[in-house]
Amino acid sequence: MNNKIALLQDKIKQAHAGGGPVRIESQHKKGKLTARERLHFLLDEGSFEEIGMLVTHRSVDFGMETEKYPGDGVVTGYGNINGRLVYVFSQDFTVFGGSLSETHAEKICKIMELALKNGAPLIGLNDSGGARIQEGVVSLGGYADIFYRNVQASGVIPQLSAIMGPCAGGAVYSPAITDFILMVENTSYMFVTGPNVVKTVTHEEVSSEELGGASTHATKSGVTHFSCSNEIDAINHVKRLLSYMPQNCEEIPAPLAYSLGQDETRITLNTIIPENANQPYDVREVISQIADQDTFLEVHKDYAENIVVGFARLAGRSIGIIANQPAYLAGVLDNHASVKAARFVRFCDCFNIPLLVLEDVPGFLPGTDQEWNGIITNGAKLLYAFSEATVPRITVIIRKAYGGAYDVMNSKHIGADMNYAWPTAEIAVMGAKGAAEIIFKKEIQLSADPEEKLLEKEKMYAEIFANPYRAAERGFVDEVIEPSATRTKLIKAFKMLENKVVNNPRKKHGNIPL
Ligand code: HXC
Repeated sequence: MNNKIALLQDKIKQAHAGGGPVRIESQHKKGKLTARERLHFLLDEGSFEEIGMLVTHRSVDFGMETEKYPGDGVVTGYGNINGRLVYVFSQDFTVFGGSLSETHAEKICKIMELALKNGAPLIGLNDSGGARIQEGVVSLGGYADIFYRNVQASGVIPQLSAIMGPCAGGAVYSPAITDFILMVENTSYMFVTGPNVVKTVTHEEVSSEELGGASTHATKSGVTHFSCSNEIDAINHVKRLLSYMPQNCEEIPAPLAYSLGQDETRITLNTIIPENANQPYDVREVISQIADQDTFLEVHKDYAENIVVGFARLAGRSIGIIANQPAYLAGVLDNHASVKAARFVRFCDCFNIPLLVLEDVPGFLPGTDQEWNGIITNGAKLLYAFSEATVPRITVIIRKAYGGAYDVMNSKHIGADMNYAWPTAEIAVMGAKGAAEIIFKKEIQLSADPEEKLLEKEKMYAEIFANPYRAAERGFVDEVIEPSATRTKLIKAFKMLENKVVNNPRKKHGNIPL
């Protein structure tokens, strides 16, 4: 008996050794943790239960039959984060560069299936050189098995991907299907093909960092939602992100205890909008006054900055916020902003997270660049995402709500439940100057003083439309509110909408304009 226990202990020891001390040291030298160290920091102490520790690969080509490591380059199992069940896989770069073999894929698929059956989030810590080159097509098949399960789980359980090292080839597509990607600055990369292949094919000279580093994907491509300063920062972001989400699509996010203060009015909001309607202000300041203190977690912070999206809490409840950002490109809607916001709206709707829209948008950005890159299709994505969302939806028109953007930004007409406007709201087809130039063109041209005439007509148009009252008369706006009352109004309205039930017509699935 003792011998048998010793044998088991020996095997466990081997599995814990990964690719051996030299490779572990090399991992540490790069500023990276090992797969097991990462899990140690991610999960509640003592909660991790490993599954498949002794799995080895079945490869027999290129001498692989003599080179086996228990676990085969990925640690899989389940554990708790702040007491909540999660399923995890953590790729071990010290074993064949974390590359994906047939059995490595089977291990990941096994926990994905458990996560789906048991309705708990899946967290992947990715650090992989892609398909295990020695295995050929079975490795490609393994990737496809994972992609397929990612899609089956999409919208059922939250799926989060932290990129902790190089992720090349197939290693990038599973994260791309999941809900959120987090990358680590300077030590993680994502690309379909690395710099060497790029050089051969396109003759471009580019570093790994430039091609697919955290900053590139956080600012240029939008592939990653978070760029984290180190691995611990990334792990902490995973935990915080998860705190806003429920376990699965049948549940609501757990509220935090919150007792309403004596006074929830926020007087500074009454002066936050500049006198001149063309002057910018930072919408994050509005968010910080409306949300519970220090609860705003911005998503895609450095990408398409003309729209701000993220999670927050309102009286302890999780909400998703979508806000035009006048401090960047005047808060205009463009291709990137539309897609960024649409994806966020759909995530919140999947997981029963109510939506709050703070609107100050001069319209869609005109021009060839926008048109040729599909602003029609991309703007329609946002329109579609709001229209199909069945969670409680509230809009506050802070200032501008012009043109198509008025309709798109969660207007009453596309199913918002409550629409408020501040007295500073301007709701019209376009700005007063542009409108006057078009509808009074002849009168202005024929006038003795065209400039003076334009100003007069502009003023007239602004008086009629640059306010919230026309919309309020129609009921398109439910109430014009003092800005300082916004937080109180929203707390009450979201509470009122708590039991909202609305079902879209039965269908196989909609056809969002991709
Ligand atoms: C098998 C691999 C491997 C792989 C790395 N290794 N990638 N083994 N299959 N794909 C092994 C190396 O042999 C080495 O083993 C160890 O991992 C560490 O690799 P290094 O190259 O020394 O590390 P580093 O310099 O940090 O470079 C990491 C890397 C590079 C950028 C990931 O290894 C690399 O470019 N790998 C290949 C990436 C790739 O092209 N993958 C296939 C993509 S095709 P030892 O024994 O020395 O420790 C694909 C198709 C799927 O994935 C498509 C599905 C849609």
